[in-house]
Amino acid sequence: MTIELQQKDLLAVSCDLLVVNLFRGATKPAGATGVVDKALGGAISALIEEDGFEGNVGQSLVFPTFGKIKAKKVAIVGLGEKKVFDADAVRKLGGYIVKVAEKARAKSVVTILHGAGIGGLDPRMSAQSLVEGMYLSSYRFHQYHGKLRKSDAERAIKSVVICETDVRASKAAVEGLERGTALASATSFARDLVNHPSSHMAPADLVEAAKSLVGKGVTVKVMDAAEMKRKKMNAALAVARGSDHPPFGVHLSYKPRGAKKIIALVGKAVTFDSGGLSIKPADAMMDMKCDMGGAAAVLGAFKAIAALKPNVEVHGIFLAVENMPGGNAYRPGDVVTAMDGTTIEILNTDAEGRVTLADALSYAKTLEPDVIIDLATLTGACIVALGQDIAGMMTNDTKLAQRLLDASKESGEPLWELPLYAPYADHVKSKIADIKNIGMRGQAGSISAAMFLKPFVGDTPWAHLDIAGPAYIERETRPDVPFGGTGYGVRLLMKYLAKL
Ligand code: BES
Ligand code: ZN
Ligand code: ZN
Repeated sequence: MTIELQQKDLLAVSCDLLVVNLFRGATKPAGATGVVDKALGGAISALIEEDGFEGNVGQSLVFPTFGKIKAKKVAIVGLGEKKVFDADAVRKLGGYIVKVAEKARAKSVVTILHGAGIGGLDPRMSAQSLVEGMYLSSYRFHQYHGKLRKSDAERAIKSVVICETDVRASKAAVEGLERGTALASATSFARDLVNHPSSHMAPADLVEAAKSLVGKGVTVKVMDAAEMKRKKMNAALAVARGSDHPPFGVHLSYKPRGAKKIIALVGKAVTFDSGGLSIKPADAMMDMKCDMGGAAAVLGAFKAIAALKPNVEVHGIFLAVENMPGGNAYRPGDVVTAMDGTTIEILNTDAEGRVTLADALSYAKTLEPDVIIDLATLTGACIVALGQDIAGMMTNDTKLAQRLLDASKESGEPLWELPLYAPYADHVKSKIADIKNIGMRGQAGSISAAMFLKPFVGDTPWAHLDIAGPAYIERETRPDVPFGGTGYGVRLLMKYLAKL
């Protein structure tokens, strides 16, 4: 699907489907919708009356034009309440438009800059959000469909044209369109990485993904097991031991001239989490290819960084391992020593993410960044607390917290803060080592995991995003987030970086 902006009159372009809109509570079509209504002899006004179309979010009405205008069909989509209409509403709208167009079997779609000028929305933001929503909702992963389901591709929308006649608005919209295209493409890249089964996404494959991003200011350093050993990353190496797939460390860098801040992005990169010897029940293991969702978000962010060139130095770090119960696997009861010298008592080999992050965060800290942000599919407890859609944030810095919450609101990736409650450091106190890798059964599992990570970042401003819920979804709750890997975090990180 291609999306382009044309400085043309809406009615002058031929297409299968022309999409206009209506706010909730509006009794008459306004703006572009009014123009189309007039050209159709008041057909839209009549339909609003007769069909009781209320302009709710997700509501739509499609009808044929019988040759009265160049478009074969027209769709009216609901914008919802004008009061709460914002960038994320436009993003969802873009998603709904794609769904409506796919259902109507439209190959070519023409539409407008929905909501530009409403509230704080300018043409640039409106275009960016619309384009993000459309691309993200049209995302499909069919690399493993083989002979079946080829028709999916045939049914896809081929082209979308956004019409805007005003010269200044259309210039701004083109900027937004380019930004939205880059962000959607980076998100799709992350989604693909998560959606590939673990049979095709081992640690070495994550290294290849990282290498594919080199150029345009991005460099990569790869550490093999021997190099990780020299660096004393013995915690991550312990997790990797039960698998036949060797581990790899990846360090991506982007250092623009004149950057004033250094940000380290750390991702959990467990390419499959069987639980290890503390093996998971079958149902809990089924989707564990998603356990590298944190690394996928970091890689997606770097793809976007190469395209959008933010003015900050960024480092992306992950230690890729597979957590398997092989003959040489690490055991419950073992003690392992992390890169910074901290000793960790392993009591459950399924709490492996934090063990690998101990070394990844220790390594990130040696770069002396101003901020560390880690993203990790870390705890089932976070899904219990916040559900499938919302990531948990635990941080030692209130300013960073606010920045990330603001970014989340704009990017449409829900985030909620959980407390980094100091007394719960007790939950991960070990009798025989510095810390243990599990907390108290049934109590604040996400927070105790964060308390485990905390010592490894020292005083560095740090935010831990537990993305166990939103990295991979079973049930669609937004039109722009289809089933499977979601690429959660890519756009949130980019919003955060862009504002620094
Ligand atoms: N990868 C899992 C967490 C997870 C669960 C991610 C569901 C996505 C969906 C993690 O490694 C894990 O197994 N955590 C354990 C920790 C426990 C043993 C302390 C958990 O949450 O049960
Ligand atoms: Zn686990
Ligand atoms: Zn895991």
